[in-house]
Parts: sequence; structure tokens; C-alpha cells
Amino acid sequence: MWEAQRKSGFEVRGWRGRLRRLLACGMLVAMPAAARIEVHGHRGARAVFPENTLPAFEYAIEAGADYLELDLQVTKDGVLVVSHDPVLREDLCRGPEGATRVIHHMTLAELSRWDCGSLQAPGFPRQKRVPGARVPTLDEVLDLAGRGRFGFNIEIKVPRRPGYAPPVGEFARLVVEAVRRHGLEKRVIVQSFHFPAIREVKRLAPELRTAALWSGQERDFAEIAREAGAGIVSPHYRLVTKEQVDRAHAAGIEVVPWTADEPQIWERLAAAGVDAIITDDPAALIAWLKKRGLR
Ligand code: G3P
Ligand code: CA
Repeated sequence: MWEAQRKSGFEVRGWRGRLRRLLACGMLVAMPAAARIEVHGHRGARAVFPENTLPAFEYAIEAGADYLELDLQVTKDGVLVVSHDPVLREDLCRGPEGATRVIHHMTLAELSRWDCGSLQAPGFPRQKRVPGARVPTLDEVLDLAGRGRFGFNIEIKVPRRPGYAPPVGEFARLVVEAVRRHGLEKRVIVQSFHFPAIREVKRLAPELRTAALWSGQERDFAEIAREAGAGIVSPHYRLVTKEQVDRAHAAGIEVVPWTADEPQIWERLAAAGVDAIITDDPAALIAWLKKRGLR
């Protein structure tokens, strides 16, 4: 089934980049502007369900998101799990009294005793509570692939503090193995702020699409992507301008900003010509794009 599905959306995405590269080389003279803006559900759909939980990802799939955005950590026993923070936040997760909150210092069995669905995240008043929701494994999230035609935008989180994650080479290897095990090479983007992780993923699996995350100073988007060896640049939305997007496109680089949750920001990003938007509220962004004829 997937073979037929990928003929439309995902292959087109790949061709878009290749066409841009041909244009950049002067081998083609014209290409119609691609109007459709893809939607990435940030941490699933943080505005509506607890972040990075299975209910959040299931909701994002139902809402029609093109990609599920998610963050990775690694447990003490080497299992990839989906959490933004290397240390479970006190305002998001409840667990055994006195136990460590450092994911890399606990086994998967120990992590499974934590409830990350009972507390509503500060700043997200519409977020529903899902008592008992656990930190899922990457395998559990990738198992959702059969539920529809969407991709996974997987972030390798490399904590600043040593001892909170395995060496980058091992982290990258675990990710590549998981993607291949699930046969999802064509539906995955691997993103990171840590460019050595991106370069290592590319070295191990040149077939995977990668994205360079950026929240630093203003800098040429194409140059950022080139430094990371990525085909996509993912800047903070505040850094996006039409000039930057045009230059990136001319270099064959896609632009996928994060994390934009308000119509006035979507308006600005759409006018700048971005390829996709990462949002906490995929349903609202999809409705907004449809109204604008951008989907
Ligand atoms: O996908 C980009 C975005 O998720 C990066 O920021 O901190 O939410 O992981 P953060
Ligand atoms: Ca992320």
C-alpha cells in the first residue's frame, strides 16, 4: 500500500528539491511555485495532548499532519525513547518518590513507571490530560506508520551535559537502525541542532533526509544546511525572511521553520515561501492553510 501512497506526496517532496537543484545549476528554465505548505505536528500536537505521547501522535495523524515531529533520548539499557528533555520535568511527569529523573540513568522498565500525561503543560490551556500516558519508545511511535500517509521528523537531542546520552556515533547508529528496521527510510527526516549527529546519520545512511536546526544568530540558511550536510534547514520562525527562503531554494535547500502557533506568524511564513511549518496545533494550521488555498 505504501508503495502506491509514496508516489504522490513523498516522492514529490524529493523531486521538489532535485528540481530546485537543477534550476540552481541552470539546467531548467522554469518551475511553477509549489503552493502546498506541509504541516509538522510539534511533539505530536502539544497544544491539544501531552507532548511526545502516543495520544498526541495519534491526534496529529487524525488531524492530517504530514509529519510527526518528535524528540529522542536514550535509556540506560540503550532504548530510544521519545522525550524532549533528558531530565523528566517536574511539571510534566510524575514518578516514584526519590527516583532519578535522568532518562539515560534509568532502564526502560524504570522509565515505564513514570506518568507524563496527568499534568497539563504550562502555557497550553487547551491541553487535555491523559492520566497514565508513558514516555513511548521510538519503536512504538514508528509502529503508527500504518495508520496513514505521513512522515516522521525525528530529532536527535544531544544534551549539553555529558553522561546524559550515548556518544553521538552510537546515538546516530541506533536511529538509523530503527528507521531501517521499520522500513521507513522514505518517510523520515532526521533533524538536530548538533551537526555532528546529522553528518553521522548521513554517513551511515545517505538515503535519509536530514534537517539542520538553527536558533542562533542570523546566518545564511543555505550555508547552515551546507555546514550540517543537510538538505533542509529548520530555523526558528523569527529568523525567516523571503530573501533567506529564496536563497535557500536557489541552492536546492528546503526551509521548515519551528515552532509557529499563531495565524499572524503563519501568514508571514507563508508569504516568505516556506516549504513546511512545525506547529503545536496541526489541526488549526491545516484549517488556516485550507482557507488560504494553500492545501
Ligand atoms: O523541530 C524543531 C523544534 O522541535 C526544535 O525545538 O526545543 O522544541 O525541540 P524543540
Ligand atoms: Ca524537537
